[in-house]
Amino acid sequence: MASISLIVFTILVVNISCSMCFLRMASTGLATWYGPEDGAGKGAACGWEDDVHDPPFSAMIAAGNSNIFLNGKGCGHCFQIQCSRKPYCSGKPISVTISDQCPGACNNIAYHFDLSGHAFGMMANRGQEHSLRQLGQVDIEFKRVPCNYGATKIAFKVSQKTNRYWFATAIEYTNGDGVLSRVEVAPGGTQTFSSMDNIWGAVWKKDINDSFKGPLSFKLTSADGKTLVASNAIPANYSPGRKYSSNVNF
Ligand SMILES: *[C@@H]1O[C@H](CO)[C@@H](O)[C@H](O)[C@H]1NC(C)=O
Repeated sequence: MASISLIVFTILVVNISCSMCFLRMASTGLATWYGPEDGAGKGAACGWEDDVHDPPFSAMIAAGNSNIFLNGKGCGHCFQIQCSRKPYCSGKPISVTISDQCPGACNNIAYHFDLSGHAFGMMANRGQEHSLRQLGQVDIEFKRVPCNYGATKIAFKVSQKTNRYWFATAIEYTNGDGVLSRVEVAPGGTQTFSSMDNIWGAVWKKDINDSFKGPLSFKLTSADGKTLVASNAIPANYSPGRKYSSNVNF
């Protein structure tokens, strides 16, 4: 009996951990850094702009080469990264979110993370941050992990280019898988959802007309198949360029 329940238990645990198969095996790659020494990096190619400076990103971001950026489908993926180069590296993993693309020479190897100056320094032993950055690059081990932004809820950053015929929003701080496979919007405080298109990075758009008014609710489907509704996440008087927090997260 005991051995049967152990087998059942083992199968259950294996299945549960495999429903979280984004906990990938560790791989090796290269890390570099860009921008100011203790800078925050950029949210450019994902649509998050300067939000990478502020919590919950707090500068812990990286640009990824094409195997990591995945043409924008990698925007929001979270990774643990560590280096072991002595005497600089602490060997303790840091967690970063992919927020930008590292094009060109970053593709000379399979996996290249171009970290913010701040994040790169966080791989160092205390007092060794500057020396580690002086190396310019370091070999790393990395693995994909679920994103966890603590108490932060999913936010919607309305595109600067939004107008009466075209509505777009970048979506950020998505826990878990970190990436959305489907986004639907319901205008006017209704629950009548229709699909949006992922135009680039974490930016989703919809062609609209004058009947499209806030408040806007969103139905979000994560890349690993979970769904949630962010009701009235964007208010009626929304303005282009502003960021609105919902009260939900995965
Ligand atoms: C405005 O958009 C709504 C929703 O897509 C649609 O049902 C309606 O026919 C459109 N109105 C005009 C004037 O195009």
